[in-house]
Amino acid sequence: MAERLTTIRPARRGDAAALAELGARTFRDAFEADNTPEDMALYLTSSYGPELQAAELDNPHIVTLLAENEGRLAGYAQLREGAAPDCVGQARSIELWRFYVDRPWQGQGLAGELMEETIAAATTRGAEILWLSVWERNHRAQAFYRKCGFEDCGEKQFILGNDRQTDRVMSLSLQRRHAPLAR
Ligand SMILES: CC(C)(COP(=O)(O)OP(=O)(O)OC[C@H]1O[C@@H](n2cnc3c(N)ncnc32)[C@H](O)[C@@H]1OP(=O)(O)O)[C@@H](O)C(=O)NCCC(=O)NCCS
Repeated sequence: MAERLTTIRPARRGDAAALAELGARTFRDAFEADNTPEDMALYLTSSYGPELQAAELDNPHIVTLLAENEGRLAGYAQLREGAAPDCVGQARSIELWRFYVDRPWQGQGLAGELMEETIAAATTRGAEILWLSVWERNHRAQAFYRKCGFEDCGEKQFILGNDRQTDRVMSLSLQRRHAPLAR
């Protein structure tokens, strides 16, 4: 069993290289078994790299939280301000753009702790709705999000390399939510 989580903190500019490594590795771990090497390579190259993550950390519309254990990253979450799909509604919303826990910490409760901090950050930004899109075939993540109170509200296309995929869109009302997540 992995050691207990120590910290969840906002990312700093100096975290860009470590975030790029974690982002690419956790994406590969999660999706390489179900996608072609060509599609994975195209997506990874266009999405992860120290300069790309440095630009995200500099972007005022993106919030990045890191989970860290003894100086090593164990997971991360990114919120992104921008347009939401119609099914999310008109209330002020923010997207849970990326949410990844490294394999040794999955099933350990870290994901729930990271979600609590992510929700707190979304609320601090003034959001009333937190929404996300998740691959229709990613059943574990969907189960986790439902456990956190998210509800399915529609679908959205996602392009992985050259493959057009269908994501479920899920949303959580931050105003109606009072209790901390079940662990
Ligand atoms: C999604 C993620 C953050 C969830 O964190 P986690 O620690 O794995 O979550 P949990 O162990 O609490 O699992 C959530 C639920 O999924 C279900 N589940 C567990 N293992 C599963 C599996 N192998 N297959 C399908 N469902 C599973 C269970 O219902 C579980 O709830 P329970 O603990 O009440 O039984 C984590 O698995 C992860 O980082 N996955 C890879 C990246 C990813 O898919 N990110 C989301 C992108 S949208």
